[in-house]
Amino acid sequence: MRRPILGGNWKMNKDLGQALAYASAFKEAVLGVDDADIVIFPPSVYIEKLSEAFKGSPVATGVQNLFWEEKGAFTGELSTSMVKSVGATYVLIGHSERRQYFSETNETVNKRLKAVLKAGLIPMLCVGERLEEREANETFSVIEKQLKEGLAGLSKDDAKKLTVAYEPVWAIGTGKTATPAIAQEVHGHIRGLLNSLFGKEIGESIRLAYGGSVTQENIDNLMAEKDIDGALVGGASLDPVSFERIVRFRRK
Ligand code: PGA
Repeated sequence: MRRPILGGNWKMNKDLGQALAYASAFKEAVLGVDDADIVIFPPSVYIEKLSEAFKGSPVATGVQNLFWEEKGAFTGELSTSMVKSVGATYVLIGHSERRQYFSETNETVNKRLKAVLKAGLIPMLCVGERLEEREANETFSVIEKQLKEGLAGLSKDDAKKLTVAYEPVWAIGTGKTATPAIAQEVHGHIRGLLNSLFGKEIGESIRLAYGGSVTQENIDNLMAEKDIDGALVGGASLDPVSFERIVRFRRK
């Protein structure tokens, strides 16, 4: 049995006051939820205050990105030990917006992933095809490359700690969610790849989350699919009421 994981990726949204108001409402709303992992990925500047605010609740915090070096002359960057020291436990790696706007590649994904694992943080690795790749029937080959290169050199022990988020780029922020069947088809493919890379026992234990226009209306049907173990939610995680409903998805 894979434990569900629901992540809220705030991206570059909310000021401190809004972040704290959300935290106090959401913390109350999800008290007692003990059958899923819940993670909020706020802008990094709020991690310390939000980790404090969520103490004693089922909500963990994570950062949307970090650098692989430990310290030094890397202006503007944050390291694993820095984000750990302010309470983050999860890290998003290779989100498509990082790939699109900030030159993230499978190679840099791999470096970040190794640094995150070494530091004992929990990585959520994002993969997904662009619209033109889907239309050219390249979905599986794109994802295969993202996974093989992104996961290169990982041990089986490392792989156990991984969560993979499948986020088709054409579904992110567009309102065009992949249907549960489309999402399951790719998740099934990812599962097969992980089985072949790390062996069936580990491959079957790795959680696969879907992301791309997840809402309180479509979460139940997505989560009913065999290889969909969670969701990475952008827009619909910005409102604590809608994210609570997503976290409390109905099991079918
Ligand atoms: P969205 O974003 O839910 O707004 O489509 C998802 C994501 O980018 O993680």
